[in-house]
Amino acid sequence: MECIFQLRDGKQIRVRTRDTDDVENLEWGSAVPYVQEFLAKNRKSTSFFYGEFSMRLYCFFQLQGEIAGTYESFMDMLGGLGCTGKIFEEDPAQTFLNDLDDSCLDILRANFIPECVVKHDACHFPWEDQSYDLVLSDFNNLTLPRAVGEYQDFLTGMFDHADKYVIITECSIFHLKYGERSYENYERLMGVSFPHTHEGFFIAVRDWYRTLYPDWWLTNIEYFSASAYFMFRKEDRPLRTRYNSRDDMEANRPIRLDPVPSELTFPDDYIGQS
Ligand SMILES: C[S@@+](CC[C@H](N)C(=O)[O-])C[C@H]1O[C@@H](n2cnc3c(N)ncnc32)[C@H](O)[C@@H]1O
Repeated sequence: MECIFQLRDGKQIRVRTRDTDDVENLEWGSAVPYVQEFLAKNRKSTSFFYGEFSMRLYCFFQLQGEIAGTYESFMDMLGGLGCTGKIFEEDPAQTFLNDLDDSCLDILRANFIPECVVKHDACHFPWEDQSYDLVLSDFNNLTLPRAVGEYQDFLTGMFDHADKYVIITECSIFHLKYGERSYENYERLMGVSFPHTHEGFFIAVRDWYRTLYPDWWLTNIEYFSASAYFMFRKEDRPLRTRYNSRDDMEANRPIRLDPVPSELTFPDDYIGQS
């Protein structure tokens, strides 16, 4: 089974899984490999692809627009299907990707220089002396408690081995929709009070990360209802946050090029084949 789509810059991503039956019979759960989950969600409806998935890529495009032309070497620690890899790729020979899952690695090797694709547990990445202008991790489930819990060493490795930029996916904002109690939990964790708004939260988070990584400044946050994308620089700049709505994203979403099962419904302006 496969899905082919084109990013707004014309680069195409072909996602395929070796074993079709895996996707036909999938039950949702955390153990499902990312490729299979992606294909299965796309098989059931177009809303994931044109909704949350497109929003995520749009936020990454926004961040890339901020730093285009200012970096060369780039390490994507959780390479996945290679979308963030393609969005941030400046020099193919200096674009490196890592993943632990073999079906992701197949896709990454088909879309990038195979020697630049590596397989390591990102939580114990063998950095040695290497560093990169940009280090990025598109986490599934990073929140503030995990930043000082299970992902602390992972993040420290990223900050220690990035020369200019660190970009992370941060989902704490998703929990803020549960209201006051979530804000209070984050206040307790960070040891400060702040206005119970997204902006108030982000400013507190910026200061909190400064205490963890004093050489780094959180300078850009792109976000939508489900997730936020943090960019840190080794340079003091005021924080700039941008909320992205579906309308902002609409003209920039990826285009599906593969034939999609006929029982699915399409948005009116669907461009791919059917
Ligand atoms: C949200 S996806 C990344 C998507 C990617 N940014 C893209 O554009 O396609 C997270 C990826 O992390 C990988 N992953 C999860 N735990 C990992 C680990 N400990 N080490 C390396 N990769 C891991 C998964 O296989 C999955 O492909």
